[in-house]
Amino acid sequence: MDSIEVKGTKRFRGEITPPPDKSLSHRAVFFSSLANGVGRVSNFLRAQDTESSMHAFRSLGVKIEDHGQELIIHGKGLHGLTEPGDVIDCGNSGTTIRLLSGVLAGNPFFSVLTGDESLRGRPMARVIKPLTQMGALITARADNKYPPVAIKGGGLRPISYAMPMASAQVKSSVLLAGLYTEGTTVVSEPARSRDHTERMLPSFGADLKVDGLTVTLTGGRNLNPLDIVVPGDISSAAFFMVAALVVPGAEVLIRNVGINPTRTGIITVLERMGATIRKENIREVSGEPVADIYCKGTSGLRAVEVAGDIVPSLIDEFPILCIAAARAEGVTIIRGAEELRVKESDRIQAMATELRKMGVEVHEFPDGLSITGTDQLRAAEVESHGDHRIAMSMAVAGLTADGITTIHNASAVAISFPGFFEMIAGCSS
Ligand code: S3P
Repeated sequence: MDSIEVKGTKRFRGEITPPPDKSLSHRAVFFSSLANGVGRVSNFLRAQDTESSMHAFRSLGVKIEDHGQELIIHGKGLHGLTEPGDVIDCGNSGTTIRLLSGVLAGNPFFSVLTGDESLRGRPMARVIKPLTQMGALITARADNKYPPVAIKGGGLRPISYAMPMASAQVKSSVLLAGLYTEGTTVVSEPARSRDHTERMLPSFGADLKVDGLTVTLTGGRNLNPLDIVVPGDISSAAFFMVAALVVPGAEVLIRNVGINPTRTGIITVLERMGATIRKENIREVSGEPVADIYCKGTSGLRAVEVAGDIVPSLIDEFPILCIAAARAEGVTIIRGAEELRVKESDRIQAMATELRKMGVEVHEFPDGLSITGTDQLRAAEVESHGDHRIAMSMAVAGLTADGITTIHNASAVAISFPGFFEMIAGCSS
């Protein structure tokens, strides 16, 4: 691949099952590798990002049997990892490099973590600072800002850490390091980020408690292996929700979607825009709420303002929300989302640039953007910026444009959603 054409369509219908959740798949590999014994992960996401976590733990001596969407992980215990013989390449995955930094901070050997060009431009000081306070020796490129990161861990002490930003990766990194201390680590965040670590770690036997925006973990306990079933990823489902809302007469049923309340901001915001979204067959899978989601096209989405505490609960959905905004009546304003500037790409700049090519009026703010909705997007040649979620968002924009939209560097979708274009084609043909 590297360019894909998407045609404007009048039809978008179907029943789909999105790929397994990326955040949960990473955590299943991490926690199972650190447990004492053998655990099974079912419905594991096979995509480049989660394979970066598999590769990392294999480099640290963990045996992972690969049965496609099922993994059998022979956990080595918190203290059973071995020094890697080479630099660990975390690919494009921020979750891999940041959570792994927390684990390696607790281990008394030398390791170096790096990644692709995008990852080597992403901020690491946010984890280096608390992990250094805990006693790890960490240095990184550009005055300790960016990967590669070199870590010599061990001998950690617990800390009480007030995070300056809401970030599940930072929170999880400090909590993983906390497992290696004899004492109580406290992490608090300014707004709630996704809480998958807090839900999953106690089921492995960790002593962890949540009180409002504060998480407390007492270290020194071993983790027990566990069988985990990963639900579908709401962040991947979101592309199909918005596609159904912007193609008139469209209808989709999205099966097996994780609806953890720290991840459902996109549903709340789309409903505020006038969307009809129904959650059916609500159930629980491996400690996470799951539902089938029915979504029906609407004749008029309304612009919204999005800011404040809701932002972390749809942090990965802003690119696709921008497409809904581009087709809504009025001016949508997104503020308080400065974290978008340090994702796989600068997503504020990327969405502003690409939507303008399709005839949409967009203004950038340091912490967000404003988008004036229009009845008809103009087909254009657009760019993914090497970012999976920009590629998929622009494909959905293409479905509602007046001709053929070409997306360059479209293979980026393989980071989280291999098979995305085939699934889109299945609903629109
Ligand atoms: C993730 C946390 C979020 C999110 C990322 C996955 C995780 O990042 O954007 O895609 O699995 O913990 P931040 O922690 O940087 O907000």
